[in-house]
Amino acid sequence: MDSVISVKNLKSYYVSSIFGKKITVKAVNDVTFDILSDEIVGIAGESGCGKTTLLNVLLGIVEPPLRVFDGEVLYSLGKNGDIDILRLDEEKKLQLRWQVVSYIPQGSMNILNPIRKIKKIFFDFAKSKKNLNKKEFELLLDQRLEDLKLPLRVKDSYSHQLSGGMRQRVAIALATIFKPKIVVADEPTTALDVVMQRDIIDLLGEIHENEKNTMVLVSHDLSIHSNMSDRIFIMYAGKIVEIGETEEIFEEPLHPYTKFLISSLPRIGDKSLKESVPGKPPSLSDLPEGCSFRERCPYAMDICEREIPDLEWKTSDHAVACFLHRG
Ligand SMILES: Nc1ncnc2c1ncn2[C@@H]1O[C@H](COP(=O)(O)OP(=O)(O)OP(=O)(O)O)[C@@H](O)[C@H]1O
Ligand SMILES: [Mg+2]
Repeated sequence: MDSVISVKNLKSYYVSSIFGKKITVKAVNDVTFDILSDEIVGIAGESGCGKTTLLNVLLGIVEPPLRVFDGEVLYSLGKNGDIDILRLDEEKKLQLRWQVVSYIPQGSMNILNPIRKIKKIFFDFAKSKKNLNKKEFELLLDQRLEDLKLPLRVKDSYSHQLSGGMRQRVAIALATIFKPKIVVADEPTTALDVVMQRDIIDLLGEIHENEKNTMVLVSHDLSIHSNMSDRIFIMYAGKIVEIGETEEIFEEPLHPYTKFLISSLPRIGDKSLKESVPGKPPSLSDLPEGCSFRERCPYAMDICEREIPDLEWKTSDHAVACFLHRG
């Protein structure tokens, strides 16, 4: 399959100074991967490991104190050729956003303006992206609500009148109204109950199925990925430490961190006490020498203290960054 987004040696850090001391938070620390056409990629990892930062850079949203220090993010958009999103001017980036690549940000259901009816929010949003008259706009909105099986009455509601799950569905309808080729969603099910989570997963699955797009889905919850993603990228301390097909990640995890994440998942009928990953991740502004996971790793060896393991492909579709699997 063809690559749609190709990320090479990406380094993106937050740089600030506190009391005259420069602080560098290495949130995306030398990351390389491809996202393929029509697939759903799931990105998983503990809070603070850099998932949202990585998504922002993928979308070309790089604002101080965030800076890109190295690498590239290439979009392959068929007849438009390859586009380096990090070197594109703002106007061109805005032309791509929402129509070609769309973003459902973390907590998106809370960003719907509470003092405007949903219809008005849609209108303001669509008007700023496309030249539509009122009639065309109404048609587009009704069609989208129908596509996503949302009741037309939501148009005349205020966001606070809707349940959390409905607000999230509306936010997703809004972000995907132009049926973009690439949809990026950050924790779209967090803060929802289990039934609503299922509902949102089904909705994203339907959008993917019907519109044949590429999805990048961030969730710290691996069980969401097991239901949805074709491939999983495991992120730890600013790095991608394992990439594999979902089934393989669950059945044959290679990185000790991935093994911990999987063994800590609750399973039906299993009443044994679940262990969470021991210890804490390192500070991204003060990373230890060598492998960032070594202080929590039961298999750490001498080399792990000195060298940083590269992400290496063990088979054509399974890669890991760990000295246990080197060679
Ligand atoms: N504006 C900022 N300035 C400095 N550091 C920041 C800023 N925003 C985020 N960070 C730091 O960058 C690191 C990565 O944050 P990020 O939000 O990308 O993580 P995340 O994996 O999305 O976490 P979560 O699962 O909690 O959403 C964290 O250490 C965070 O504290
Ligand atoms: Mg986040």
